[in-house]
Amino acid sequence: MPTLAVIGSQWGDEGKGKITDYLAEDADLVVRYQGGANAGHTIKVGEEVFALHLLPSGIIRENVISVVGNGLVIDCDELEVELEALRKTGRSGKGLRLSDRANVVMPYHRILDGAEERARGSKTVGTTGRGIGPCYSDKIARAGIRIGDLLDEELLRDRIATIAPVKERFAESLGAELGLDQEALVAKLLSFGKKWEQYITDTSVLVNDAIKAGKKVMFEGAQGTMLDIDYGTYPYVTSSNCTSAGICTGVGVPPSAVGEVIGVTKAYTTRVGAGPFVSELTDEVGKHLQTKGGEFGTTTGRARRCGWLDLVVVRHAVRLNGMACIALTKLDVLNDLDTIKVCVAYDVDGKRVENFPSNVRHLERAKPIYEELDGWKSWEGSTAELCKRGYEALPQGMRSYIQYIERSTGVPAGIISVGKGRDETIDRRHKKW
Ligand code: GDP
Ligand code: IMO
Ligand code: MG
Repeated sequence: MPTLAVIGSQWGDEGKGKITDYLAEDADLVVRYQGGANAGHTIKVGEEVFALHLLPSGIIRENVISVVGNGLVIDCDELEVELEALRKTGRSGKGLRLSDRANVVMPYHRILDGAEERARGSKTVGTTGRGIGPCYSDKIARAGIRIGDLLDEELLRDRIATIAPVKERFAESLGAELGLDQEALVAKLLSFGKKWEQYITDTSVLVNDAIKAGKKVMFEGAQGTMLDIDYGTYPYVTSSNCTSAGICTGVGVPPSAVGEVIGVTKAYTTRVGAGPFVSELTDEVGKHLQTKGGEFGTTTGRARRCGWLDLVVVRHAVRLNGMACIALTKLDVLNDLDTIKVCVAYDVDGKRVENFPSNVRHLERAKPIYEELDGWKSWEGSTAELCKRGYEALPQGMRSYIQYIERSTGVPAGIISVGKGRDETIDRRHKKW
């Protein structure tokens, strides 16, 4: 099966952009299946750094077809800004394809995102403010605008006329005002439709045909398993299925089309926004991880909360996604620590818990049960040179840490990442594609 899926094992920002870009060297298509401009995927190629939000990570390779699947919510202004930024780097973006069934993040979704957060009082989710929750809510409530509608003036006008008054009333109930100018909105959306007509298509047909033709297709997840609407730390989650199950509905492919699932797993844990985080460190070690790991959001610039690796979380992710292996990232950030802790289970009211609890109040009371491992010293010289020499060249302590994780999760660490660059990676998988 020539498909690969790259999915976050934790609360996002595991390095999915880096790993997708690394693997895309051999890909024909890179396909996003959920999320929106709440994602921030950073890719470093030589001295160039790309921060992608809506565009799939394949877009920086001109020979790759980059598909924005129907499961995404697309903010047209954001997409335009991103395409412009890409073009400034000398790339055409010609490989882009947009699903005609993807939903549009409307300007009022952003306003509602803020209004809903304010209405939550002390219980805010800490969203990215990109209108993601309100847009997915409208999709499910059958009140969404789809990308294909931007090519059909009559349909678009009709949809907006039906939806706008309801949105106005809802906003008012939250103390917000939308001030919708339906004509201006229609005109703006039609102009995007015109501009992007050559990209808009039935991407389910495109991807299925590519798979049938033996093309190499990658699915790129956004966010992470713990932000999944069903299996994350509900209600402190995003509004889509980030797990591998989301691929089928978010692209329009059957389950049999999902091949090898690679779980991108940071060697420690981070989370942006509110919600339970059992292995969080609020001490100097947490600060150290944040500074050394550069743990500041790609989308909002917010400081990421940091903590030790939580194996309860990673095991949950391995099971839910059917991960064949993990891509272990940012191991270099742990260099030079004397000892490293890993959370192996939770203590909830005196009971040892091994499976991730669904009840948010249990999670808030959960205490981490740690095991302690020895640290290791960093290497001399360039990381790229070290990686060229392969896995055995890594410090012994780092290899022991990796083996510990492999034993606890039951899956191999197929890819090891010890830096931002493409060449700061070791690929240990036996079978590639
Ligand atoms: P994503 O949302 O999962 O794509 O992750 P982000 O791009 O938001 O955050 C990951 C950050 O870590 C980015 O700045 C990457 O360049 C960086 N990164 C990825 N892998 C490594 C690694 O192995 N070591 C270090 N030091 N940085 C890494
Ligand atoms: P990538 O793809 C980390 C978090 C937000 C908030 C919650 C809900 O870069 O890993 P939303 O705006 O989606 O309604 O916010 O989800 N969140 C992310 N955290 N990485 C992301 O994406 C995220 N996308 C959303 O911080 O807690
Ligand atoms: Mg990110």
